[in-house]
Amino acid sequence: MTAVAGSRREAMLEKIADLHAEQTKAVEAGGKYIARHKERGKLTARERIDLLIDEGSAFLELMPLAGWGSDFAVGASLVTGIGVVEGVECMVVANDPTVKGGALNPWSVKKSFRAADIASQNGLPTINLTESGGADLPTQKEIFIPGGRGFRELTRASARKVPTVSVVFGNSTAGGAYVPGMSDYVIMVKEQAKVFLAGPPLVKMATGEVTDDESLGGAEMHSRISGSSDYLALDEHDALRIARRVVARLNWRKASYDATAYAEPDLDPDDLLDLIPTDLKEPFDPREAILRIVDGVSTGSTTGQDNAVAFDEFKPLYGTSLCVGWAQLHGHPIGILANARGVLMSEEAQKAAQFIQLANQKDTPLLFLHNTTGYMVGKDYEQGGIIKHGAQMINAVSNSKVPHLTVIMGASYGAGNYGMNGRAYDPRFLFTWPSAKSAVMGPQQLAGVMEIVARESAEKKGQVFDADGFVAVKEMVEGMIEEQSLPYFLSGMVYDDGVIDPRDTRTVLGICLSVIANQPIEGEMNFGVFRL
Ligand code: COA
Repeated sequence: MTAVAGSRREAMLEKIADLHAEQTKAVEAGGKYIARHKERGKLTARERIDLLIDEGSAFLELMPLAGWGSDFAVGASLVTGIGVVEGVECMVVANDPTVKGGALNPWSVKKSFRAADIASQNGLPTINLTESGGADLPTQKEIFIPGGRGFRELTRASARKVPTVSVVFGNSTAGGAYVPGMSDYVIMVKEQAKVFLAGPPLVKMATGEVTDDESLGGAEMHSRISGSSDYLALDEHDALRIARRVVARLNWRKASYDATAYAEPDLDPDDLLDLIPTDLKEPFDPREAILRIVDGVSTGSTTGQDNAVAFDEFKPLYGTSLCVGWAQLHGHPIGILANARGVLMSEEAQKAAQFIQLANQKDTPLLFLHNTTGYMVGKDYEQGGIIKHGAQMINAVSNSKVPHLTVIMGASYGAGNYGMNGRAYDPRFLFTWPSAKSAVMGPQQLAGVMEIVARESAEKKGQVFDADGFVAVKEMVEGMIEEQSLPYFLSGMVYDDGVIDPRDTRTVLGICLSVIANQPIEGEMNFGVFRL
C-alpha cells in the first residue's frame, strides 16, 4: 500500500468510526427509559423489527440520523427502514417508545413522510409498529396541521392496492388512533394496546363520563366489540408472528423482477478506503469506485461474452469530466453518471442529457455519483451557453421516469447538485458517504463573495469598508457553512436517506434496486422543450 493510500484509509476509517458513534446515539436515544421499558416486559423498537423480518435477512435502516443537530434526540423517536417479511420487501415504521414516550416531533414527521414517499414510489407494503404518545406537545404547531398527511397516505396506499399493516403495542391515542384506524390489517397486543380518541381524563373533562383504558380502547374491546382490531395478540411475540402471517397471505408479486445471475465486483470494495480522499480538493477517478461497486464479469456475467467489461463507458472521449456508461448491479442493469473532474461544462451537460434519454429509451435505472463543484462559470463559458446546456441536463434529470439512485461521494455544490439529481430532483434513494459535502458553494468562496458584496455596498454608500472588522465575520460564516455542509447535518435535516460506509455502497444499492423492481420500470420519451 502506498503512503497516500495508507493515509486515505486512515482518514476514511476515522470518519466511519465517527459515523458509527453518531448512529449509536440513535440506538441509545432512549437512555434510562430503555431499561424501564424492558422492565415493563416490552421489546424495544429495534427488537420488534428484528423479530418481524425474515431471519438472517438485512434491514436497510433509513434516515437513522434524522434530527441530528436539533433539540430532539438523534433518530427522531422513529426507526424506519426496508425489511423482508415472508419474502416481501416492506417499509417498516416503528415508534421508539423510549424517546419521549414515542411522541412525534417535527423531524419524526419529516422522516415518516419520507418513508411514506419511498413506500409509495416503490409500491411497498407498510408495517407500522405503533406505540406513541402522539404529537410532541410543545411543538404541536409544527406538526398538527401537516401531520394529517400520514393518515391520508395510509388509505391512499390501500387504494393503490398496496396493503398497510398496523401492530399496536401500546399507546396510540388521539390522532395516533388513525394509524390502526386507516390500516388494512390491525393487530393489537392484549393488555397493552390503548387506542382511543381521548383517554379517561379527557373523556371525564369533555362529557363527565367515568371510564377506564381497557373499556375505552383496549385490545380485547377492539377485537371483540368495536371491530377496530382484526387480531388479538396474546403478547408482543404473538403480534409479530401474526404480522408475518398477514404478509405471507398478501399474495404479493413483484412487477419487474428480472435480475440475472451476477458476479461479485472484479475489484475489492475494501480498496475504496485507499482510493477515496476525505480531502475534497484531491481528485479521484470515479471509475475506480464504479468497478468496486458494480457486478464483475467473471462467472455469471451480464453478457457472458469473452470481451465483456464490468463498465461499458459511453462517449469516453467527449465531455471527459463526466463519466457515463452501462453496468449491472446485483443482476440489475443500470446506467451510471459520475463526475470525474469536479466541474461540469457544456459538453458534460449535453452528454448527460443524451445519456439520460438513452436510459429512458431502454427502461434502465440510473445511478448518479456526485463529486462536483458545479457548472463552469466565466465569460467564455457563459458565451458558450453553459446555462442552456446545464438546463438541458436538468430538463433530462427532471423529466426522466426511470428510477434514479444518488450517492454523494464527495463534493456536491451549486447547481451541480441539481443536475446530478440531488434531493430536490426526487431520486428514489439518496445516500451520502462520510467524506461528502454539499452546499450552494464552498465556505471560503461563500465568505469571499459576501466580502465582495459588503465592500461594494459600502462603496456605493460612500462609506469606508472595514476590512479588518470583516475578518471575524468571514471566519464565522466559513465555520457555519462548513458545519452545514457536512453529512450528519444534512442527514439530520432528512436531506438524504442515510450516511453509509463506502464499502457498503454495493449492498445498499443492490437492496434499493431490488426494492425498485416491485414496480414496473418505464422510461419517458416525452421531455420538455430542450433549449438547443
Ligand atoms: N409530547 C411531549 N413529551 C411527551 C409526550 C408528548 N406527547 N408524551 C410523553 N412525553 C415525555 C414525558 O413528558 C417524559 O418526559 P421527561 O423524560 O422529560 O420527563 C417522557 O416523554 C416519558 O414519558 P412517560 O410518561 O414517563 O412515559 P410512559 O412510557 O410512562 O408513558 C405515554 C408514555 C405516551 C403513555 C404518556 O407519556 C402519555 O400519556 N403522554 C401524553 C399522550 C397524549 O395525550 N398525547 C397527545 C396526543 S395528540
